[in-house]
Amino acid sequence: MTAASLAFAMQGAQAVELNLQTNKVGAEVQPTMYGIFFEDINYGADGGLYAEKIKNRSFEFPQALMGWQAYGNVKVMNDGPFERAPHYVRLGDPGHGHKHTGITNEGFFGVSVEKDAEYRFSVWARVPQGGEAKIKVELIDPKTMGESQNKGDKTITIDSKEWKKYTAVITPSETIKEGQLRIFLVKPEKAEVDLEHVSLFPVDTWKGHENGMRKDLAQKLYDLHPGVFRFPGGCIVEGTDLDTRYQWKNTVGPVENRPTIENRWHYTFPHRFFPDYFQSNGLGFYEYFLLSEEIGAEPLPILNVGLSCQYQNNVPEAHVPVDQLDPYIQDALDLIEFANGDVTTTWGKLRADMGHPEPFNLKVMGIGNEQWGPEYVERLEKFLQVLRKEHPEIKYVGSSGPNSEGKDFDYLWPEMTRLDADLVDEHFYRPEKWFLEQGARYDNYDRKGPKVFAGEYACHGKGKKYNHFNAALLEAAFMTGLERNADVVHMATYAPLFAHVDGWQWRPDMIWFDNLESFPTASYYVQQLYATNPGTNALPLTGKDGKPLTGAEGQDGIFASAVLDGASGEYVVKVVNTGETEQPLTINFNGLKKKEGIVGATVTTLHADDPLAENSLEKPNAVMPAMERMAIDNRQDWTTVIPAKTFKVYRFQKK
Ligand code: AHR
Repeated sequence: MTAASLAFAMQGAQAVELNLQTNKVGAEVQPTMYGIFFEDINYGADGGLYAEKIKNRSFEFPQALMGWQAYGNVKVMNDGPFERAPHYVRLGDPGHGHKHTGITNEGFFGVSVEKDAEYRFSVWARVPQGGEAKIKVELIDPKTMGESQNKGDKTITIDSKEWKKYTAVITPSETIKEGQLRIFLVKPEKAEVDLEHVSLFPVDTWKGHENGMRKDLAQKLYDLHPGVFRFPGGCIVEGTDLDTRYQWKNTVGPVENRPTIENRWHYTFPHRFFPDYFQSNGLGFYEYFLLSEEIGAEPLPILNVGLSCQYQNNVPEAHVPVDQLDPYIQDALDLIEFANGDVTTTWGKLRADMGHPEPFNLKVMGIGNEQWGPEYVERLEKFLQVLRKEHPEIKYVGSSGPNSEGKDFDYLWPEMTRLDADLVDEHFYRPEKWFLEQGARYDNYDRKGPKVFAGEYACHGKGKKYNHFNAALLEAAFMTGLERNADVVHMATYAPLFAHVDGWQWRPDMIWFDNLESFPTASYYVQQLYATNPGTNALPLTGKDGKPLTGAEGQDGIFASAVLDGASGEYVVKVVNTGETEQPLTINFNGLKKKEGIVGATVTTLHADDPLAENSLEKPNAVMPAMERMAIDNRQDWTTVIPAKTFKVYRFQKK
């Protein structure tokens, strides 16, 4: 607090009153309350979190050499060793006048590597005629070509007529931001070599997994302290049509044998058209479950309910008839077995074979993404009839459609109550005004019905590029309403999570990256401040009018909520000043015993002078929280000042 602000507060300027009822411990804040939504949008998986650097590594895109440049004598073959990914290339004699036969991969917006870091190259290969042949593997920078090539390159001898996996670790002698991987046949020049599943990963992935995640991005997820991890989306669950829907069984087992599938986001927005955006499924359901475990979050898979994307398919024939849902329901049953079954079961055994004999402890599952209408309800009902009988221990999430209110929403909520869904997934991508008006959204929800999962939300502020501070501030304000209603809101996940600065389709997003670096947005810090200060139980907090502070008229743009941290005994008060002027605040700690008082506080502040301020690759720390410790002289009330446009988290210690 500045001296001038303090003076302002002390002069008795009308302070905003916050009356905290310390002795009325309320609803439990669920450990799942603040979580993560993950979808392969904006190159979030392939080209993003999934650390693979080679695009179309299995030659399975519809144009088999998309992402590759071929020269000399290269043939595409389709009788390879992996049944569900049968294509491969044959490098042969380049013929008279040609020096080399080879292929070059362009990566995802380039193949980027860092000086002196280690990269694991691997390829499945054979010499179809027998004998030996050599291939050379190089990382090249097309901008400087001659100068950069051959540094850290490797020559590999292919020595068998049978398919085998060959690996080599490459250590580049320079950083290349937008490089390429080049492989060519060295000798004998008359030889033929077959290549399949060409892969390049950093050795240093998250937790060192070979089929691993980008370390900086996974670390950012871990640092969020998420309570729940929702995957694999999003519209990805539906695809564009049933053929392109997400099928989890295609994403488990050996990575080489996982089919490639079109990513619906490659053409969803014509102004951001990415014809080379496919899903390798290298980041699949095993990896999602493992990542959930490693970042400490409950896994929350979302499954297709037998509907293709309802936006794009407005005819009943596009969906699975209600009497033919059995294979879809079986997928859900098998998924529970994959996650929780013991190693003697078919799917539990596969999980064990993949490296995780212990169950993943699945407790909650979503049926359908952002579905609507009677066509959703009748299908969900069929799923629930079977799932509830076979697996009553699992909680099931239904949908309230794509909108935060309106016709579909009003139809679906009572239907979800009728079907006894455990949670209802609400989605709202809304402008600033909406967020300012929604502080009391959950105050009057039915306390006996399904719980709320705010499963996709973000403030779409005006003037956004990546994601600006004002949008994040309003998300923080809105979230006080989630916390105050912890008895009815059990999970909330901001969306989307990731975006590549060159490959995004949708913004704002929470974490942005290029091939080498990443930066958190102000929204990331809001999520982190909530998730690291969730408390254990809600505490009543009201203004001088006896009502919760929801930014309502007469409340000076202040939103606030409070929780008790049962483990430390601290009172955690979150206050958001959305207004244009600083406000003196008096917090009254009601219900303390006579000799008790507040003796200190840890205060974390998220503020930017410019509401449109945002982080970027160039300025990753333009907006970030600051923490201070302050002593308080054993009081039952405390006065401070909250600056304009500021989010504060106060952790009060009591004596
Ligand atoms: O988060 C982006 C998209 O928004 C999701 O895929 C979809 O569920 C929603 O419409």
